[in-house]
Amino acid sequence: MAKISVFGIGYVGVVSAACLARDGHDVIAVDVDTGKINAINAGKSPIVEEGIDALVAQVVKAGNLTATDDFAAAVRDTDVSFICVGTPSAPDGSVGLSYVTSVCENIGKALADKDTYHSVVVRSTIVPGSTEQACIPVLEQTSGKTAGKEFGVGYFPEFLRESTAIADNDAPGLIVFGYLDEGTRKILEEINNPLPCDIHAVEIKTAEMVKYTSNTWRAVKVTFANEIGNIAKASGIDGQTVMEILCSDDKIAMSPYFMRPGFAFGGSCLPKDVRALKYLAKSTGTKHHMLSAVLEANEAQIAKAEQMVVDSGTKKVGFVGISFKPGTDDLRESPLISLAARLIGRGIDVSIYDPFVQEAFDTATPGAGRGNDDVPDLEHRLVKDLDALIEGAGTVLVGNHYGETVEQLKKAAFERPVVDLTRLNREMTSDDKYQGICW
Ligand SMILES: NC(=O)c1ccc[n+]([C@@H]2O[C@H](COP(=O)([O-])OP(=O)(O)OC[C@H]3O[C@@H](n4cnc5c(N)ncnc54)[C@H](O)[C@@H]3O)[C@@H](O)[C@H]2O)c1
Repeated sequence: MAKISVFGIGYVGVVSAACLARDGHDVIAVDVDTGKINAINAGKSPIVEEGIDALVAQVVKAGNLTATDDFAAAVRDTDVSFICVGTPSAPDGSVGLSYVTSVCENIGKALADKDTYHSVVVRSTIVPGSTEQACIPVLEQTSGKTAGKEFGVGYFPEFLRESTAIADNDAPGLIVFGYLDEGTRKILEEINNPLPCDIHAVEIKTAEMVKYTSNTWRAVKVTFANEIGNIAKASGIDGQTVMEILCSDDKIAMSPYFMRPGFAFGGSCLPKDVRALKYLAKSTGTKHHMLSAVLEANEAQIAKAEQMVVDSGTKKVGFVGISFKPGTDDLRESPLISLAARLIGRGIDVSIYDPFVQEAFDTATPGAGRGNDDVPDLEHRLVKDLDALIEGAGTVLVGNHYGETVEQLKKAAFERPVVDLTRLNREMTSDDKYQGICW
């Protein structure tokens, strides 16, 4: 069992400290608010939350949780410190780091006098890069020690929801933490191992980004559901019934398939149907901020890919894929068609390898080339042999992921610019020649 100091006895800190103490860890809670310290030491919770009064009373009585304003003693007497202080918005919308850096300063001063290894783990919500750019410099400066070598650092976001905080702590949807050093990784793994969910140990800035992504995703879902509810109501439909039915579909509507960063959506349904719902909303005088933003953002993703090809400096680009997704020859509203047309408009020569569109032309399928209104001479741009496409191209653009092409394209990425909209391989990230659109 670990010895843990928890800095900040607010909604996160109290729940975290009490649950850790209940699980057998020795916990010291630290705050600048003497009212909260006194409450804890009297066995009372300083916040209102389901089950917390009884839990605090139980763990204080058992001697597993105490509270203090003595920062130095709390650091000295524990192996790891969790920072759970507030990070309110600054007037310009940026995250307020002053409480976090102030705690780091105090912890750093205490570390200067401590001989044994100690890990400092931020739990407050802070934007990606903050642990490395704001916390570590303060800790190093005030302790005179090197992060990762003489003391440990981690970032371990909290996902609990007030009102169900203890239940969320005990059965989280996910655990993710970032770590600088093995000592911190080990202690966070030990603390979290009993929990019934996957544990993701990652880079610190990835963990910071997961926290913001999780909260923003929740916010986006609420706003989406509200917008659907408003549009539905204006047409005499119960929006809650609509959303309940939608949410029952884990296979497609709620599938992670559509949650993978990459290229724009397209095809014969999604763009047309978003436009039509937007039109319906407009015709009933219903506001539809999100529907408009979705179409704008989709256009912007096509423009982003266009700029990536332009930035590669090529006059000849070889497209791998032109249909709206692999496995079909359907070209209707394919974002790759839009992209190719834009590049051709800029005077860039476009050749295309697409086994499905090729097959449609080769077998004289009546619908061959159907849905393409923008790329001139499509059939004559098709190249059957992938090696020939790569050889003839200045830049290769991977638009559709075809399993059998991956090895050739990975090789090509060593020799010439490759713009990848699909991610050929999970290990690949942007470097000199290879550019992934979102990785
Ligand atoms: N409230 C939530 O549901 C929730 C959930 C997940 C993450 N978070 C994040 O966790 C962090 C804490 O949120 P909260 O709601 O618990 O905040 P809170 O305001 O309830 O508690 C913060 C505590 O920190 C104390 N504090 C401030 N400066 C201090 C210092 N220098 N030294 C020691 N203690 C200090 C305050 O006195 C207060 O008790 C925030 O970054 C928040 O975004 C909150």
